[in-house]
Amino acid sequence: QQKEKSDLLKAHELSGTFFHYILKNTVHGKDAVQYLEKRGFSMKLINQFQIGYIPAMRNTLSDFLHKRDFSLPLMEEGGLLSKSDRQQYVDRFRDRIMFPITNARGNIIAFAGRILGDGQPKYLNSPETILFNKSKTLYNFYQAKKEIRKTGRIVLFEGYVDVIKAWDAGVLNGIATMGTAVTEEHATTLKRYADQIILCFDGDEAGQTAAIKNLSILEKMKFQVYVAMLPDLMDPDDYIMTHGSDRFKREVIENAVSATKYKILYLRKNFKLNDDNERLRYIRSALKIIAQLDSPTEREHYIKEMSSDFDYSFETLKQEMFEIKQELE
Ligand code: UTP
Ligand code: MN
Ligand code: MN
Ligand code: MN
Ligand code: MN
Repeated sequence: QQKEKSDLLKAHELSGTFFHYILKNTVHGKDAVQYLEKRGFSMKLINQFQIGYIPAMRNTLSDFLHKRDFSLPLMEEGGLLSKSDRQQYVDRFRDRIMFPITNARGNIIAFAGRILGDGQPKYLNSPETILFNKSKTLYNFYQAKKEIRKTGRIVLFEGYVDVIKAWDAGVLNGIATMGTAVTEEHATTLKRYADQIILCFDGDEAGQTAAIKNLSILEKMKFQVYVAMLPDLMDPDDYIMTHGSDRFKREVIENAVSATKYKILYLRKNFKLNDDNERLRYIRSALKIIAQLDSPTEREHYIKEMSSDFDYSFETLKQEMFEIKQELE
């Protein structure tokens, strides 16, 4: 298996260089470059993330690998090729922008291929292989590691493009999962580098639900978790394209709120706060979140905030919180 792994690593490295070359230096890459430019990618950024392109023909990569004596069955197993109906080895990715995915050592172990424009799937990712384990892999971790260690802080995005555009905006500690939830393996790795993590997920319903889901595992692993909030229907890339890098850093990243505050705010959208009964039910739900905090200081902090937001006395809220806490025990 060692030989297979090293062959596959070599094949990924060569493929990454090949796709990047095709994008930049051939006629096939013209539309892809135009697409990326329209989306605000500079050449510098394309180089930094070794973004490439694979043409629509079915044998661009298979011919390339065949000529270099790679075993085509292994390349299929490794997720670079697939088999046609006629049992021929053909390219698995076609007519896609290719984002190399690297391991913690910076070696390419997979690709994410984005369609130019609309269509399904939007991103075609490599399947899990002997090199690529999605629950361990973090996009851009290799490049972000230095800044993560330096600042003790991670910014976790939902999308590859968000990581890249945030990097361009000067956020050098950004990473993303493979479009999946954060796993215990991810968290264990990250914990060796930093204690703080900012979740910067898409402003839509899917993104906010994903943020809530990831909160609990990260809190369990004792990260200090923050959540950056984006306007509905905007993801970090959209925000940067609309409002620019400075506002993104100042108003989104630096304004991230604590996980508890986020949960309390996130709850609000389930209640009509101008209705007395709903307002009271909201208060109780929010106090339930506060009641679950371990530290008395933290509890006091959030009760004070609620007291000023909703104009109930601190003492009353505190008493109610204790009653809820007792019901929970
Ligand atoms: P999004 O749909 O938010 O895409 O999915 P995006 O990152 O904003 O991409 P652009 O800006 O439209 O190019 C977020 C992440 O979910 C995974 C990818 O990891 C993507 O970055 N995803 C999404 C897939 O794996 N496959 C898909 O078809 C769609
Ligand atoms: Mn989304
Ligand atoms: Mn998005
Ligand atoms: Mn999108
Ligand atoms: Mn996007």
